[in-house]
Amino acid sequence: MTIVNNMKGGRKQAREHGSSVSGGVEVSVKASCLGGMAEDDGSLPGKDSATKNRPRNGIDKPGAIAGTAAAGLDGKTWLRYSISIWDDLAKNREERSLKHPAMFPSSLTDRLLEIFSPRDGGLVLDPFMGSGSTICSAYRRGLPAIGFELSLEYIDLARQRLTEVPDASGPRPRLINDSSERLLSYVAPESVGLCVTSPPYWDVLRQRRTADGKPVRHYGEDCQDIGRINSYEEFLAALQGVFTGVYQVLRTGAYCIVVVMDVRKKNNLYPLHLDISQRLLVPGFILDDIIIWDRRQEYNRLKPLGYPHVFRVNKVHEYILIFQKR
Ligand SMILES: C[S@@+](CC[C@H](N)C(=O)[O-])C[C@H]1O[C@@H](n2cnc3c(N)ncnc32)[C@H](O)[C@@H]1O
Repeated sequence: MTIVNNMKGGRKQAREHGSSVSGGVEVSVKASCLGGMAEDDGSLPGKDSATKNRPRNGIDKPGAIAGTAAAGLDGKTWLRYSISIWDDLAKNREERSLKHPAMFPSSLTDRLLEIFSPRDGGLVLDPFMGSGSTICSAYRRGLPAIGFELSLEYIDLARQRLTEVPDASGPRPRLINDSSERLLSYVAPESVGLCVTSPPYWDVLRQRRTADGKPVRHYGEDCQDIGRINSYEEFLAALQGVFTGVYQVLRTGAYCIVVVMDVRKKNNLYPLHLDISQRLLVPGFILDDIIIWDRRQEYNRLKPLGYPHVFRVNKVHEYILIFQKR
């Protein structure tokens, strides 16, 4: 797999140009990344394959995706996946041992790709890659993939997980050690067939964990980390910026799946799933559906929050927001 790394600067600082090896990580020049995966892999479908098998959902543009992998599901599985609450997804023992504070179980990303990856191939993107769950699922399915992550520790973790994917025969995923705010410098417009991601839930990992009392663990001190922004409005604006880039690189008809949780700070509830939904309408996304990811089986140290003075809800679910570019 290719790892592209840049020298870190402030949120608005331009990337360094140059090529070297730093700490065992390949450092590539920005120019070599321009044009994105379509040029690098030579494995993405062209207009011909997209127009051969046009979808029936009104999408009739050259380059649009021709339906998703869900078409290959049997009826029983289709019905099971279609139920609006998913409560059967848990990390396996190996995933529980990995050092990322907010990683997905691979059963979640595998299922999302089983449903939403384009039938005619296409690049899978995760702009907030973390430990690489989405990228590993794409690699397992033989799909080209690209992930953005600021932390070199997590890049290493993702790289290690990729080496453990059995019988992977697809193209090598690209791991970009840069802010996804610069997505368009690496990925060609309309080259992505699916985005599956989970952004930082504002700066919540930096708060004391009142629900389960576990120690605070966050993503690090990179000044470009969206999870370090104090102001909720600025955080939402930064997310809108990243997803505006995602919208531009997605093909018509492609899905963008965003997993989020609402946030409480003292007396204030911040309904992140609602606010992010509003922000993603701005570049043009349609909110196509919502699945509730019920994680209560993972919370075994819950406390009666606020007891006995103020009733507080213990949140044990996340939102799987299904956006589409139409
Ligand atoms: C919720 S976690 C993603 C976890 C991932 N789904 C997994 O399974 O491991 C969000 C990640 O986004 C990264 N991040 C924060 N700001 C970023 C930015 N501007 N560009 C790229 N990655 C960023 C954090 O370092 C963190 O690993």
